[in-house]
Amino acid sequence: MDAKFAGKTFRSRAWFGKRDKDGFIHRSWLGRTLPLDAFDGRPIIGICNTWSELTPCNAHFRVIAEHVKRGVWEAGAVPFEFPVTSLGETSVRPTAMLWRNLVSMDVEESIRANPIDGVVLLCGCDKTTPALIMGAASCDVPAIVVSGGSMLNGKYRGETIGVSHIWKFAEDVKAGRMTEQELVDAEPCMSRSTGTCAVMGTANTMAIVVDALGLGLPRNAEIPAVDSRRYALAHEAGRRIVDMVAEDVRISKILTREAFENAIRVNGAVGGSTNAVIHLLAMAGRVGVPLSLDDWDRLGREVPTLANIMPSGTYMMEDFYYAGGLLPIMRTLGEHGLLHKDALTVSGASQWDTCKDAPTYDAGIVRPWDNPLVAHGGIAVLRGNLVPNGGVLKPSAASPHLMQHRGRAVVFESIEHYKQRINDPALDVDPSCILVLKNCGPKGYPGMAEVGNMGLPPKILQQGIEDMVRISDARMSGTAYGTVVLHASPEAAMGGPLALVRDGDMIALDVEARTLHLEVDDAELACRRKSWKPPVLPVPGGYQQLYVDHVSQADTGADFDFLVGCRGHDIARESH
Ligand code: FES
Repeated sequence: MDAKFAGKTFRSRAWFGKRDKDGFIHRSWLGRTLPLDAFDGRPIIGICNTWSELTPCNAHFRVIAEHVKRGVWEAGAVPFEFPVTSLGETSVRPTAMLWRNLVSMDVEESIRANPIDGVVLLCGCDKTTPALIMGAASCDVPAIVVSGGSMLNGKYRGETIGVSHIWKFAEDVKAGRMTEQELVDAEPCMSRSTGTCAVMGTANTMAIVVDALGLGLPRNAEIPAVDSRRYALAHEAGRRIVDMVAEDVRISKILTREAFENAIRVNGAVGGSTNAVIHLLAMAGRVGVPLSLDDWDRLGREVPTLANIMPSGTYMMEDFYYAGGLLPIMRTLGEHGLLHKDALTVSGASQWDTCKDAPTYDAGIVRPWDNPLVAHGGIAVLRGNLVPNGGVLKPSAASPHLMQHRGRAVVFESIEHYKQRINDPALDVDPSCILVLKNCGPKGYPGMAEVGNMGLPPKILQQGIEDMVRISDARMSGTAYGTVVLHASPEAAMGGPLALVRDGDMIALDVEARTLHLEVDDAELACRRKSWKPPVLPVPGGYQQLYVDHVSQADTGADFDFLVGCRGHDIARESH
């Protein structure tokens, strides 16, 4: 056994350390292909894998896991790969967010129930990252994330395309600028390899967040999925997790308040997804770090967006990697007092030691401080009588001319109601109107669907208008864009003020002042509230019933009330 383990007793000894019947059972069953010294006291490393053919973004994770194992063996420990529920964002219905908390339970209980001393989390497609981190955080074992990396740039008729083009293409078809056949022709040109969506969608945002939190090795976020360096990084992660176990570097030592503040600022600097707001609040809740929606506004307000990546910018994640990636952005934040430099990373080095010498290779993609893509790139948190507990807007993806806007509400009671009405030529709507969508929040949908960037009415698109103010209690894909207020809290299905909006009401949005106001007097609102009836939730029972009974609102992370907090990794009693 390696000298670094001398004098240390790891958690897995409770399974393998006894010379009795129970020890026999554990060693004999799990050790059937292993040398006898595999259970001599060295650490056992879990590799938590979200591989699934139904999650094509994570389809290369079996190979990544093999490279992690090489590193674990090399460092003198024993790896065991285990599956957890995977979530393919584009396929899972009604929305992958409904299952994030379920996967986090799967991860937490799998780690705690098994002889695992430390864990490597293989995550990529959107919800797999927060779910795995939330689960590991509730156990507080040493953990390191290996992200899946982004897919290659899409290429269509000579143009580089990424997922954000889908929204544009769909509107081009509605507006008559693109034929349906051209849309079909673009399909195979988009997804050219395994890996996450090629833009700064939620998956890549969460990979960036992982590195900003200190949970990934340098360049973890941006190395493309099929680049050989990702496999080398997986090997290094396998080596490093063993040292982390030996040094007892648990995830709570990484996930500090300073780490979350770094992640919020970095999210602004890369034009990250609004979904990161919900996921970081939920992750902080698991480790007991106080974090609020207002922290997002306060910390992100002065952060310029420096990464010129779609949907806020022009380029793709693959380009971002070649341009230098995240490290020079973190260096720039550090040079301007916007980084907690001493925050610890899983490599053992501080964030500043990791990024302070990082070069930029293309200043058009990784912008310098004095030439940002957007001067104030953080997430704006809005308050007002329409969103008393907050709503969010991503300024870098919004239209400057709509950031201060007053308009007449056109209201949709549900996503089905929206679909029924939006293409109707008789719909009473003009470009100055504000589209309002209800009952798509955590309980109302249920699962808080990504429908907040509802497409514009065809008759508006045909006028050449590309953006209108939209407000909902839904989420929005990180690949989408527009002047969209999301996560309205409390949600309509809970009787939040959003439920009381009617066609023709005037609404005033002022992003600079951080306000969103429904211009209906209090007496009228009280009258409407009296006649309001909660919607019948489309819940068939089972897990979905558990979900609506226990999910919190978006402003606190949409976690289950009974999952908040860390339950540690105590060893349960023997069952034989
Ligand atoms: Fe998997 Fe976008 S659908 S990362």
